[in-house]
Amino acid sequence: LVGFFQPKGLKGRRVVITAGPTSEPIDPVRVLTNRSSGKMGYALAQAAHEAGAQVVLVSGPTALPCPYGVLRIPVESAAQMHAAVMAETPAADVFIAVAAVADWHVVNASSSKIKKTPEGTPPALQFATNPDILAEVARLPDGPYCVGFAAETENLLGHAEDKRQRKGVPLLVGNLAQRAMNADDTELILFDDQGHRALPAMPKLQAARKLILEISGRLGR
Ligand code: CTP
Ligand code: CA
Repeated sequence: LVGFFQPKGLKGRRVVITAGPTSEPIDPVRVLTNRSSGKMGYALAQAAHEAGAQVVLVSGPTALPCPYGVLRIPVESAAQMHAAVMAETPAADVFIAVAAVADWHVVNASSSKIKKTPEGTPPALQFATNPDILAEVARLPDGPYCVGFAAETENLLGHAEDKRQRKGVPLLVGNLAQRAMNADDTELILFDDQGHRALPAMPKLQAARKLILEISGRLGR
């Protein structure tokens, strides 16, 4: 019911959100993935829906139910997430990248299960770099308003502002990986061209509502 009474700052807007980890196959039974519960991305999808937006949630594998009123597109690999996002973003007003996208995929993934050798030699995996979905959407002419996330283990202030500029996004949300990972609450820091501002610790849904207010306030500018 609290959600029903949230301000409708995104009424009529289309919002695309990525959430969760991606999963990169090594063989049919093994994958390479990132630590991400998807909780923050799903909370943002719920908050954007509460604010009146039409929400598409491009989600890697998570254990979470799809928030009410949100269209979820389930994906596994970064390549699938990239394709789904590029299909959805031309029509979007806002893109929020919350997913922990694998930075690399295995080029020589096997189509059959890799067997252990009697000598115990591990397989030689070869990697290639995945596309940077956020940076690519941020470069689109007439693209949506882009918001990035950064979970860092150290030098959060330095890495986050650096990332904001490198990806070319107006707003980047930073948090400490150790603090936020799989937790139900979080402490966010907002980075924009004016500097940074820390929000107090609060449940992820409450933080998501604050962030959605912040984003809707910036849309008209
Ligand atoms: N991101 C993305 N596509 C990728 C990698 C990251 O869209 N292939 C997005 C994430 O969803 C997040 C932001 O970019 O919003 C920052 O992700 P992060 O992993 O912190 O940045 P990287 O540029 O990959 O830097 P690094 O992993 O080296 O810290
Ligand atoms: Ca990364």
